[in-house]
Amino acid sequence: SASEKGGWSSFMAKEVSEQPDAVANTLRGRIADGHVVVPELVAFGDDVLAGIRRIVIIACGTAAYAGQTAKYAIEKWAQVPVDVELSHEFRYRDPVLTSDTLVISISQSGETMDTLMAVKYAMSLGAKTISICNTQGATIPRESDAVIYTHAGPEVAVASTKAFVAQISALYLFALHLARVRGTLTDAEQLTQVEELQAIPEKLATTLLAEDEVRQLARYMSDTRAVLFLGRHVGFPIALEGALKLKELAYIHAEGFAAGELKHGPIALIEPGQPVFVVVPSPRGSAHLHPKVVSNIQEIRARGARIIAIAESGDAAVLPFADTVIHIPLAAPLFEPLLAVVPLQMFAMELAIAKGLDVDQPRNLAKSVTVE
Ligand code: G6P
Repeated sequence: SASEKGGWSSFMAKEVSEQPDAVANTLRGRIADGHVVVPELVAFGDDVLAGIRRIVIIACGTAAYAGQTAKYAIEKWAQVPVDVELSHEFRYRDPVLTSDTLVISISQSGETMDTLMAVKYAMSLGAKTISICNTQGATIPRESDAVIYTHAGPEVAVASTKAFVAQISALYLFALHLARVRGTLTDAEQLTQVEELQAIPEKLATTLLAEDEVRQLARYMSDTRAVLFLGRHVGFPIALEGALKLKELAYIHAEGFAAGELKHGPIALIEPGQPVFVVVPSPRGSAHLHPKVVSNIQEIRARGARIIAIAESGDAAVLPFADTVIHIPLAAPLFEPLLAVVPLQMFAMELAIAKGLDVDQPRNLAKSVTVE
């Protein structure tokens, strides 16, 4: 009903706008004196965590892209190798797991059958399991050894938005907790990351101000038939998530690519007028990657692509080559995904609205898939 939507036109619009709170509430109570202490992980045991040699993240859909994003942070901060797998692929091959493997499942609902079966399978093989979940008391957290709840609040729209940023935040808390236990970050380094994380809610609020600009762009593009998304490093899973949102909500063929992979195939798709979203890494924070992505933009622009760049505000290098630039606030490289995903969510939503579609209940999809 209209009252449940709190004056918003859709649950999705409401949930997109709630992202600053989703992150703030997920961080609450888990940071003290400049470092991360996740109480649920203290119960799990520091000695157990310190002995982890490998992490496997399992999830489906948007949650899997949160996992792919977190892989970069966990490996950098805690120096433990991470594999990210789709639950249904993991479950039905013969994965090699040992008792020093930690399996982290990510599920907004905590009821996705594919992920539940994968968790049970991992446990049967002797792995330890942690659930990242947004729903108190759901089946997957109940089955797992430990749970870190995201506190995004109930997510009603089928396409996941605020749960995604909350999942990444929870995984970053996990990564920083693990780094502290393992001693892989100095106190000063830990503090720097904590401050970046705590700044995200306010930066998300700023990012949401791009709404009108994104709506205009979406209206202008309402008869687009295919859209490509490019990203590199942590921008890669965000490109995948941007493509997923567009498929789910606007029923438009969309594909995400790692920008470095462009020359190995996808560049053949570029023809005059082809819209391409590019998640541009920070020119300061990712000085080694930024020029590479700018040169990707030049390559596809020369072949007629229409470039929509998601770039850090003040990034002057992309301006001459982009048809549209959507600015996001400055953040350290690992934190950019939390901001860059927002205009992509808004674009998919606004394009669906421009096409007259139901953004809360897209055809053929369910909020939580409780069958294998
Ligand atoms: C369904 C939803 C997706 C969601 C996926 C995983 O397919 O339509 O939006 O990302 O399930 O859901 P979960 O509850 O496990 O995060």
